[in-house]
Amino acid sequence: MFRYVLRPILFALKAEQAHRLVIWLLRLVGWLPGGRWLLGRCCAVEDPALTREVFGVKFRNPIGMAAGIDRNGEVAVELGAMGFGFVEVGTLTPNPQSGNPTPRMFRDEATRTVRHHTGHANRGLKSALRHLRRDHSGVVVGCNIACNASTPPEEAPKDVLKLFRNLYQYVDYFAVNVSGDDIRDEEVSHSEGYMRALLEPLFDFRRGQNQYRPILLKISPDLTDEEVDRVVDILIGTPLDGIVAANGTARRLANEQHTLGRRCGEGLAARSVELVHRIHTRSGGTYPIIGSGGMMSPTEVQAMFEAGASLVQLCTGLIYEGPSLLKEVCQSLLPTPQPETVSEVPSTAEEPSTQPDEGA
Ligand SMILES: Cc1cc2nc3c(=O)[nH]c(=O)nc-3n(C[C@H](O)[C@H](O)[C@H](O)COP(=O)(O)O)c2cc1C
Repeated sequence: MFRYVLRPILFALKAEQAHRLVIWLLRLVGWLPGGRWLLGRCCAVEDPALTREVFGVKFRNPIGMAAGIDRNGEVAVELGAMGFGFVEVGTLTPNPQSGNPTPRMFRDEATRTVRHHTGHANRGLKSALRHLRRDHSGVVVGCNIACNASTPPEEAPKDVLKLFRNLYQYVDYFAVNVSGDDIRDEEVSHSEGYMRALLEPLFDFRRGQNQYRPILLKISPDLTDEEVDRVVDILIGTPLDGIVAANGTARRLANEQHTLGRRCGEGLAARSVELVHRIHTRSGGTYPIIGSGGMMSPTEVQAMFEAGASLVQLCTGLIYEGPSLLKEVCQSLLPTPQPETVSEVPSTAEEPSTQPDEGA
């Protein structure tokens, strides 16, 4: 259905129009009686072998929808019905913002990538709250948060805290984004001072609550190995619950037509898997990591888990492959059924008797 009907329609549209159509279709499915049930029947893989518990949260399966697709939290429930074990909504900012001028999202079918510099276009906290108040039991919903583009850097912690406080009871975890496509200086956004300034007010607020909400940090894949080690060493000393590694890359391909923002999709897996392995090793194998970046097939997802990820997110892979990718990935994680063992000692009832008949 996706490959022969939906994909040709979506790929005939501009990337951002296609994105809006998908959100609209998912909302329609959610609104139709039995729509979510049908979506689940077609796409979801349900199996107790897929369940995981990570940073104290129970996941139906370890495959999530990455941030950027459901920016406003409109279709988290429908994405859950489709079979995702978790959905990261956002990036959300306190006030609505229109982002960068369009066009700002480009698919390149030849390289199976998407480059975007949307600048965290979203409808803001109030609108997201309306959607996120919906019951989403069955799917874990995380929220990716950042400051508004117009906020001066010294005020950024206030923006992030505002989102955190207001969404605290409606989502299951938070990912603080220091690697968005509007970040101009990654050295600053991944510096100890900046990260602590953003995170410490959140830790303080959480201490006063009777419910625990894990806090993660989403980092860039473009840090050098030394920078990654430094970031991990700093974070491991804080009450942070894990890292999302990583966002799209700001690096350019040799013949890339569009060069602004971040490139996502094929080709990213080598770096994101390497990054996850580095964080896993550096943190002594105990830090929960959500692996993201270039997960286009079950093979790459497998490599990500082997590198030390506890959970994995899909994004561009879904744009190119549709929901069948999610299904294939979940099926690939199921334990392979063992061939039935043939008993070495044949049962006497089935074995022809070697004793002569008494009456013969
Ligand atoms: C169109 C698009 C928009 C995105 N927007 C966001 C965003 O708002 N916040 C964020 O943290 N990541 C965003 N991302 C990055 C994804 O969450 C993901 O980390 C990245 O695409 C790498 O995964 P992939 O190679 O599987 O796409 C976006 C990605 C795409 C393709």
